[in-house]
Formats: sequence, structure tokens, C-alpha cells
Amino acid sequence: MSITIKDITAREILDSRGDPTVEVTAMASNGAAATASVPSGASTGIHEAHELRDGDKNRYEGKGVLQAVAHIESEIKQTLIGMQVTNQSIIDQRMIELDGTTTKHSLGANAILGVSLAVARLGALVNNLPLYSYLRQVFSLPLPAKPLPLPMMNILNGGRHASNDLDIQEFIIIPHLGVKADLSLKDSIRVGSEIFHELGRVLHQKKFSTDVGNEGGYAPSLKNNEQALGLIIAAVKQSGYSLAKDVDLGLDVAASEFYKSGKYHFEGKDLSVNELIKIYQSWQDNYQLFSIEDGLAEDDWQGWHQLTEDLGNQVLLVGDDLFVTNKERLALGAEFKAANAILIKPNQIGSLSETVACVLAARRYNYKVVVSHRSGETMDTFIVDLAVAVGADYLKAGSTSRGERVAKYNRLMEIEAERKSSA
Ligand code: PGA
Ligand code: ZN
Repeated sequence: MSITIKDITAREILDSRGDPTVEVTAMASNGAAATASVPSGASTGIHEAHELRDGDKNRYEGKGVLQAVAHIESEIKQTLIGMQVTNQSIIDQRMIELDGTTTKHSLGANAILGVSLAVARLGALVNNLPLYSYLRQVFSLPLPAKPLPLPMMNILNGGRHASNDLDIQEFIIIPHLGVKADLSLKDSIRVGSEIFHELGRVLHQKKFSTDVGNEGGYAPSLKNNEQALGLIIAAVKQSGYSLAKDVDLGLDVAASEFYKSGKYHFEGKDLSVNELIKIYQSWQDNYQLFSIEDGLAEDDWQGWHQLTEDLGNQVLLVGDDLFVTNKERLALGAEFKAANAILIKPNQIGSLSETVACVLAARRYNYKVVVSHRSGETMDTFIVDLAVAVGADYLKAGSTSRGERVAKYNRLMEIEAERKSSA
């Protein structure tokens, strides 16, 4: 007997910044119900799908999502009721058609994605499968031969995610002890947490603030970006670990935020693209930098091509605002030889099916895959199951502090334990 969608409800909830976002519950004809919620970015790319906000200045400074909620409970619900719960691709397609715009402007990407995720979770529930297994089944994904995604932990926050003066948005550690030493992923997460705490001690000793930013990393006011790298390297060493051997360093520069009229306004200077690439090159030499996300601006294709020529063999160059989880933009990137990895954020494109299609395209182009949270998050851990299902190389979910970040790493450890016990 086929199980169908019986009802869909939605509500306005708060994200980790205290801003409104959408939560959706989908109900099935057999009485099962599943809920999912939608995250929200701060350094959003201009090519992202449209996040519908009410604009009513009397509520939440205009950031309310009551219109998105209303769209879910009227047109979307009417369209989807009676459809088979497991027809995920068709369900997503119906919503895309109902919206009728390329950017999901009429219904809102937040409305469509919320329903898309809730329906997927409902599908897992009615099939009695863990979400990651169900996602593999419903999208006919092969079982990845690879280990679980490695954590990319943003332990020092700057840019739009903090009120300090650091131009770079994220200073990241990638503890990979687990893979190299054939230990578990749990150990990688432990190493990340130990370094995070050690960094707290280093900052405290030097009388810097240990308050945290949007993604749970410390957000001290430092003299420049290199000082941040130095402090993190000190914390790695003091924790008894070695750079490159146990843990790698990464950056999310979020360069679109400081790009204007062909120049990169970085550390008080207006730099050309080549000057900025030279800085990255020197950091790669001096600090063994492993990954750079959004090192250049979202439409600087020529610059991205140059960056990839110069550093693409040694460094993971991740396109976030550049690709916005959009397979058409990724195709352009592959043609231009821009970047060698893609950040995957479901709310940049606005439906689960399109997100998975983008990951599959990335695999075809041989790009590494990083599944990512947003700076405004909820307790929903959907992205973790998604990362496992698609065999992502990395999961980027912030630091090991703040409940909405830690929830993701805890879910990853839960999946690891579940897989071990069923192996
Ligand atoms: P955002 O930041 O969610 O504010 O866009 C995350 C990122 O840039 O990776
Ligand atoms: Zn980014």
C-alpha cells in the first residue's frame, strides 16, 4: 500500500542568531510525522536562491517568515497532498514548477526547502530506515567506498560572523588523525575539541577575548589575519598534535564580502587579484595551508582560474558563493577550471533533489565535496545524514561549541557508531 502525504504544517521558529526561520512538519496517511527546519546565511552569495522574508519592519526588523509559512500551508500543501511520500524528486519538481521562477522568488527557497527536507525525513520514517540510508535509496546513490566525511571546524571567527576586525571569516582546522591512524572519526572530533579548548587557553593567557562568534569559534580582536593563524598553530602544538600529520589548516575567506570595483579591500589595502593570490601562496608555504574557501569573489572567474592554476595542485580550493550549490554555475567552473572543490548548502539552491544533483555533477567533474551548515542554524542535523549519504569528503559544521554546531558532530558520531554495530 502506498503511503501518501496527508498534511503539511509550518511555523516560524528562531535560528541560532535569534532570527526567524521556517520549520515544517509533514504528515503521512499512516499517521507518521516528521519535522525539519531551514538554516540561514549571513555572508550570502548574490546567486543564491531567494530566501523569502516578510519585510514588515514591525516584526523582527523585517526578517519574519510568515509569508513563507503561509505559502507552505496553502499552495504547497494543496499541491502535494495525496502524493506518495517517497516520490521525492517529483515532489521537489512540483514545488519548483509551482514557484515558476529560477530563483524561487515567489514561494521562497526557505518554504520549498523546508517542505523538501520534512518530506525526505518522513520518507525515512515510513521506510523505517536511518535518514542517510533512505537518502541513498530514494536518490539511487551508490554506497560510498570512502570513510565518513571529515570534520572542518571553524574555531576562530571573523568577517560577518563576528564583531572583531578580521577580514577572513573562518579559520578552520581539519583533524584527520582518524583516517591516517585508522582510528575512528570520533577521535578526529576529539582532537578538534582538544585543540579548540587549547586555543581558548592560549587566547586567555594572552588576554584576548574568548567569547565566541556565530559559528562557535572564538572571536578575538587581533592585529591581523596571520596572528590568528599563529595562535591556532600554537594551540595545535600545545595540544600535542602536528600540523599536516594530525590536523590541517583551512580558511573560509568569504572574499566576496570585501571585493569592490575589481579590487580586494584586505587588511586596509586595495589589492589586485594577483596580490591576494601571492598572499595565499606565502601562507601556503609558511603554514601548510590545506584549504581555502571563497579565496576570491563570486564572479571573478578569471581570478579563480588563475588561483586554481597557481595553487590548485597543492590546496583544496572550495567554491561557496562562487557555485551556490548550483549545477549550472558548477559547470561554468569546470569549464573555466575554477576551484577543485564545492561547498554544498541545500538552502543555497532550495530543494533536496537539486542539492543531490549538484553533488553528482561535482563527482563527474572530479571536484571534492564539502557539505556545510549556515551561520544561522537550528538543531536540525539533516546535513549530516546528507553528507554521509552522498559520500561527502568533508562536513563543515562550525566549532565544537554552541548547541546547534555540536548537534551536527554528535549526529556524525552517532552514525559512525550505528554503522559499526551493523557492519
Ligand atoms: P554563511 O557562512 O552561512 O553566513 O553564508 C558560511 C560560509 O560562508 O561558509
Ligand atoms: Zn563560505
